[in-house]
Amino acid sequence: MRTIMANANAKLGEDVFKKCAVCHTAEKGGANKVGPNLWGIVNAITAHKSDFTYSAAILARAQPNLKWDYETLYRYLYAPRKFVPGTKMAFAGIKKDEERANLIAYLRTLSDSPPKLP
Ligand code: HEC
Repeated sequence: MRTIMANANAKLGEDVFKKCAVCHTAEKGGANKVGPNLWGIVNAITAHKSDFTYSAAILARAQPNLKWDYETLYRYLYAPRKFVPGTKMAFAGIKKDEERANLIAYLRTLSDSPPKLP
């Protein structure tokens, strides 16, 4: 994970985020759309927005205290419905490792103090 993230490019990731922007806003205080706003998502607890109605599936997954760290985001975004069976995020996933890493590098910038890289 460390090597993958060290080589990731947030600028390219911003482009990949266009696939997400149909359903998610990225800016601080942005509205929830079909999916929750993603400001501060890296290292946030799952189901991080109290004003968004999550699926039972993701809430169940959240109970064992799953956190959206680099590793879990990397796995979730590969195949959301495999990682969280029953999630209402209707998105097939991003299969290219490099693209996913770039995207996560971009997600990391959505914060007042971006968490340190793994
Ligand atoms: C078709 C709409 C849609 C698309 C496209 C989509 N999402 Fe989502 N996303 C959702 C929904 C709906 C949820 C809530 C899932 C649930 O409650 O099961 C969600 C949840 C999430 C979560 C968990 C948020 C939390 O608070 O725990 C993350 C992280 C996430 N999406 C990232 C992404 C990224 C990154 C992309 C782009 C690759 C993306 N999503 C594309 C609809 C979408």
